Amino acid sequence: MSEIRAVISGVGACLPDRVMTNAEISAFVDTSDEWIVERTGIRQRHIATETEYTSHLGERAAREALDNAGLSPNDIDLIVVATTTPDYTFPATATIIQNRLGVYHGAAFDIQAVCSGFIYALKVVKNMVITGASKRALVIGAETFSRILDWEDRTTCILFGDGAGAMVLSGKADTDQGILSSFIRSDGRHKDLLHVDGGPSTTGTVGHVRMIGNQVFRYAVKDIARAMELCAKRAGLSIADIDWFVPHQANQRILDGVARKLKIRTQQVVSTVAEHANTSAASVPLAFYTAVKDGRIRKGDLVMMEAFGGGFTWGASLVRY
Ligand code: UT7
Repeated sequence: MSEIRAVISGVGACLPDRVMTNAEISAFVDTSDEWIVERTGIRQRHIATETEYTSHLGERAAREALDNAGLSPNDIDLIVVATTTPDYTFPATATIIQNRLGVYHGAAFDIQAVCSGFIYALKVVKNMVITGASKRALVIGAETFSRILDWEDRTTCILFGDGAGAMVLSGKADTDQGILSSFIRSDGRHKDLLHVDGGPSTTGTVGHVRMIGNQVFRYAVKDIARAMELCAKRAGLSIADIDWFVPHQANQRILDGVARKLKIRTQQVVSTVAEHANTSAASVPLAFYTAVKDGRIRKGDLVMMEAFGGGFTWGASLVRY
């Protein structure tokens, strides 16, 4: 019997209409457009309205991914949502989306690995698809990170935005497309460098993002570069073979640092950080979607996705689109 592969058969995205510029943030915290652009590359971010929840953004991205794949919701037997900002402590945002899509079979659950959540979800879902546990799955990265920001802390509130991205992963035989290799890692020793200072079991509150950014930065460049090299190696390939790099969009300087380290041309790196800022688990599928829609990433291209985030968690996923 020929090997089953987990192929990306549809992509979708959703950004809230409301755009917040650097100039707007500069009006309520001590920062400036110049500082934010120079240190991060971010020019604006999208912010969800009070009645726009993570599930709404995720659902819209999911519906577009289904359309793009030529499928209807009932063709899906698994929904996995990567998020750190779920609608509720429970139930999982994935089951809320499952219900809104009118899917009453299969399974739905959330994955929590902060900014690396989508890369983690791809690995889990890929394994379910290639073993036949799922035939067609929706993988969604969706966040309303604006809800957990301390809007008086200039070191964090400038960095993040809201949004969602989705992919349909379909099991297919006799193809060279699909996820070729994936790599995930975590290291809990660095919690204090990047965390949220609240939660159901500790403070009983949602809490706010706290980060010692310059220290996170150093780990991110080193660990991302290593993850991508290992991911390529596991597929019997090298960094030089890859057409496109779709990184987590935390900071343009991180993207540039990793590209320099691995001798990747800047034209090969998909960057949406200027327009979207850091949308945590949504950033990789949003960037992937952007490059598919503008015609850069085409069927058959070799694409490396990567992410780094709280935990620390990090990882990479290599796919032939
Ligand atoms: O997605 C999860 C992973 N997250 C990341 O990977 C984020 C990684 N870190 C970063 O992107 C960067 O470290 C930041 C953008 C957060 C900060 O940039 P930096 O170049 O590392 O600056 P810094 O933290 O070393 O701070 C330099 C100065 C400080 O002032 P002093 O102490 O030198 O007087 C900060 O207080 O910049 C100051 N500063 C600001 N100034 C104006 C920090 N935030 C701001 C701000 N506006 N928003």
